[in-house]
Amino acid sequence: MWWMVDLWLCLGCALLQPGRANPQNYPIIWEDVALNPPDGKNLTSSCTCNLHPFVCDRKCCCDPDCPQALSDATRRSGECRPEGFPEQTLDFCVPDGFVKKVNLPTGDDFFVLKKQAADDNFFGQLLCIKKSSNPKLSDEYPDPPVGAVDGNPSLVPCPSTATEPTIPSTYQAHTPIFIARNGVRQQLALPAPIFSAICVDQAVVGFLDNIPRGKHLAEDVYRSCMRAIPDESTLERFCEAGGVLAPERYRNFTYARTPSGDANVSPSLPYALISNNGSITTADPETVTSDFANGVCSNSVQHINVTVYYSLADSNSVEATIEQVSVGLTLTDVAASAGAHRQFVRVVFVDAAQQVDVLQPFSGNPGYLRGLPLLGGRLTEDPNSDKIAVQRFVRGITAPQGSETDGTCSAGAQGDSVRFGANSTTNCAIELTRAQLESFCNSGNPQRYLEDAMRDVYTAIVTEEARVGIWGNSDPDNVNEWLQVRVSNFPFNEMSFSASPASCSNVVVGYDLKVLTGVAFASNNLQRKVLYVHLCFRTDTWTFPATKSASEPHRFYLTSTATFVPKDQEKRTNVKKPSPPLRTNVPEDIFYPFVTSSAAQLRLCSKAAVGSLAAFLTMLVLL
Ligand SMILES: *[C@@H]1O[C@H](CO)[C@@H](O)[C@H](O)[C@H]1NC(C)=O
Ligand SMILES: *[C@@H]1O[C@H](CO)[C@@H](O)[C@H](O)[C@H]1NC(C)=O
Ligand SMILES: *[C@@H]1O[C@H](CO)[C@@H](O)[C@H](O)[C@H]1NC(C)=O
Ligand SMILES: *[C@@H]1O[C@H](CO)[C@@H](O)[C@H](O)[C@H]1NC(C)=O
Ligand SMILES: *[C@@H]1O[C@H](CO)[C@@H](O)[C@H](O)[C@H]1NC(C)=O
Repeated sequence: MWWMVDLWLCLGCALLQPGRANPQNYPIIWEDVALNPPDGKNLTSSCTCNLHPFVCDRKCCCDPDCPQALSDATRRSGECRPEGFPEQTLDFCVPDGFVKKVNLPTGDDFFVLKKQAADDNFFGQLLCIKKSSNPKLSDEYPDPPVGAVDGNPSLVPCPSTATEPTIPSTYQAHTPIFIARNGVRQQLALPAPIFSAICVDQAVVGFLDNIPRGKHLAEDVYRSCMRAIPDESTLERFCEAGGVLAPERYRNFTYARTPSGDANVSPSLPYALISNNGSITTADPETVTSDFANGVCSNSVQHINVTVYYSLADSNSVEATIEQVSVGLTLTDVAASAGAHRQFVRVVFVDAAQQVDVLQPFSGNPGYLRGLPLLGGRLTEDPNSDKIAVQRFVRGITAPQGSETDGTCSAGAQGDSVRFGANSTTNCAIELTRAQLESFCNSGNPQRYLEDAMRDVYTAIVTEEARVGIWGNSDPDNVNEWLQVRVSNFPFNEMSFSASPASCSNVVVGYDLKVLTGVAFASNNLQRKVLYVHLCFRTDTWTFPATKSASEPHRFYLTSTATFVPKDQEKRTNVKKPSPPLRTNVPEDIFYPFVTSSAAQLRLCSKAAVGSLAAFLTMLVLL
């Protein structure tokens, strides 16, 4: 059964309302914003595999976002990823009331000291090291014996009996989603950019593996990939029934409630089909199909929005059943002459029993991960209170981007995210005839093309409201975790036109973004952060070539760069944890009234292994 719903054919929406398909900002929920947010970040974390906040990182047993039962199961199967060192601890004993405070020369995060009351006897008070302080790496497994021992042979008998791959009876994290298409059971695969930006159609969707990674707003966060369309016959093939642009490919199947059970959950179609001709109509979801004519594939799939509602057997369980699936598609017309078509995919798993979480993808936890977007936003004040917060730009700080097919700056495109740690240069072209160049030059608007290409980000920068996240998970509700973007070369000079050759000076053609970065936290778990952000606008003279016909458009370029400069800090990457510096000089008369010649200045070092300590104690007893 298809759910009967109104289906909106919003014709032209894709062009007219880019905000709907690609909003520029995340909303602020003012109730969550504190009036005086805390200063400083809590870096106490030793879970190095927890790379994504709010997401259960795969096989990361110390990730608090994973269900406990899942972590336990992973731990039992010995598949936990390295978790990093726990804090080094030094347990030592002191006689009651004897020592008030111990001043170990340890610095910041290297030691946690635990005092224990010592045994109430002479040796106990004198010689007591409770635990060695060797860093523990992770769970330890005894080295299993090899060869025909310990039941090894019986575990790999011959002849082998055929083993079917087991399909779990309920969905667990990362279990493939099973569907039935025309009665054939298969795994759900959606377009993904696996090896390059080109869509691969074999990427299986795993349970709880949101696409893109992270929790999403109800708003649009999509992963995208490109369909190359070299010629009309390729487009025709994509467009035919079951082709990668055909809507039924993404909706004409049912989902299996459990991996092994019948596939009997029909997706509901909640919203919008978009086409390109300007009127909005409703249609029956089952009747809308793609159609190829005159080099154009009408009703080609552009956005695929899948929401899977699941329920857990109980709150501590990792085993789930799919309750409902909703699929939203937006369609558009694609012409073979465009050369390429971008498809967008979003898959969100929602606990049917819980409210939908409204969260945003971040770029690290807490420090930035290289290659993820530099978080950016605009300082915003609540009109109804004194609260301030940062309204995040969905793509962070962006640079003007050329269109995929011809490299011209697309007005309204939001540009490409600047990525943490990646020095980059972006270009896009503006095409102007000589007359257009002259009229632009006399418009008194030198930033016009840059502003068109960057929109909100540009506005925020020049009003000094632009902020950059200090940490990869900077909380938009806490302005203290955001840094102002300092701006140079602003305000702009007047443009001036000179006729021969036709040239326009002082055009604002882009920016250079300089980001100073630093590292923090213990050397075994370095976290990267932003220390300072400086944006300098670039200006240039645009000259129309004298050799070119005045009516022929010439390409002028917007160019922006991003440079990440690491601060030269005291390097700690190779620092070994110092051994606990407990070092007690035993007084010369310790064995009074016995006298030994060698007992002078015996040294007890905490480095001493438990064995040698025991030997030492034995020696004392023998004495
Ligand atoms: C920092 O986080 C750790 C671990 O989550 C917690 O134990 C500690 O209390 C926190 N410290 C502060 C000051 O919030
Ligand atoms: C959808 O699938 C059913 C069989 O499962 C098939 O009969 C029908 O023709 C398909 N519809 C479209 C539009 O492909
Ligand atoms: C995707 O579908 C969900 C569930 O129907 C809906 O809440 C969300 O707004 C949709 N997202 C977009 C971008 O349409
Ligand atoms: C727009 O397209 C729809 C279907 O593709 C068609 O029914 C409608 O008449 C078109 N409207 C205009 C104004 O061309
Ligand atoms: C980026 O450029 C800066 C300054 O030129 C340089 O220090 C840094 O190493 C570069 N980063 C990369 C990843 O190349």
